Amino acid sequence: MPTAQITALGTYTPPNLLTNADLEKLVDTTNEWILERTGIHTRHIAPPEMATSDMAAEAAKLLLARRGIAPTDLEAIIVCTVTPDMFFPSTACLVQDRIGAKGAWGFDLIAACSGFVYGLTTAANLIMAGTHKKVLVIGADTMSRIINYKDRATCVLFGDGAGAMLVEAAEDGAPGFIGFHNEIDGSGGDFLKMPAGGSRCPSSHETIDREMHYVHQEGQQVFKYAVRKMEEACRKVLQKHNVSADQVILIPHQANRRIITAAAEKLGLDPSRVMINIDHFGNTTAATIPLATADAIAEGRLKRGDTVLFAAVGAGFTVGANLWRWTC
Ligand code: UT7
Repeated sequence: MPTAQITALGTYTPPNLLTNADLEKLVDTTNEWILERTGIHTRHIAPPEMATSDMAAEAAKLLLARRGIAPTDLEAIIVCTVTPDMFFPSTACLVQDRIGAKGAWGFDLIAACSGFVYGLTTAANLIMAGTHKKVLVIGADTMSRIINYKDRATCVLFGDGAGAMLVEAAEDGAPGFIGFHNEIDGSGGDFLKMPAGGSRCPSSHETIDREMHYVHQEGQQVFKYAVRKMEEACRKVLQKHNVSADQVILIPHQANRRIITAAAEKLGLDPSRVMINIDHFGNTTAATIPLATADAIAEGRLKRGDTVLFAAVGAGFTVGANLWRWTC
């Protein structure tokens, strides 16, 4: 069976920044509250003319340049997002056209904050099935478009960004993808959702008036679930593949600093092995894991040959943990 490796990484964040000081002017909040309760001080926000496919295409172009391959070498493109440019065509189609990946197929994957982890699992399995050699996985979200900047409980949390990883069939046959534990639990769907705009509740003047086109979250419910399930998913994948927690670098979804530190403590991980960069990006939903990976490499915390554990919990609920040997 072919093995799957991550061979390149590209990211993009828009230049405009939204700081805690800016948010203090918009809602009844303070820099101290935001920092203490979330760990965030800055988020990147896309300018009005920029949509998810624009950021995704920038991340993809950087990745292609770094890997030194042509866009036409890509066989499939998976865009993980909850903020597509529009319902259809898919953002994958828009990105494919923008970067000139003629001949590729692809699709959008909706798993909210677990999107990138599910995208990696899917790409790895396409490679291991022997049907693909190069699959591009992109996590991209323009959360600022679905956030209510009058709701202090959500507007302080989110930012915009994109990140991409290339999953390839390994030329040397060495393993990259080790395994996964993913699960969904739809019983938690009401705790984090965007209620309007779909077939259940199409957009109307009423849905706009009732602010149903924005993210609605029961923060404490999501928090408790996220800590419990992030630890559990990590533990399950580690046990399944006989890897001990102290052998891995954990690159978790960045939703709240306290969620990450609580889950990491329960796993018995030394903080030096846990990547946290929520302070300068906030929660960029499907983009947090590639953005945190890029920072982990830049800081020298993730090196070729390390065993890396990507883990996320998100709306749905969706839960995912992927174990990889880092090969890029
Ligand atoms: O990535 C997708 C998954 N999402 C998550 O994982 C998010 C999970 N949840 C969280 O990160 C946290 O629950 C939040 C950061 C959203 C909220 O933190 P919390 O410690 O759970 O606060 P809380 O909701 O229990 O609220 C405590 C108090 C409330 O005031 P009262 O009722 O005690 O008077 C809130 O109204 O904090 C208040 N509050 C704020 N105060 C200042 C809520 N948001 C703010 C704010 N500034 N921005």
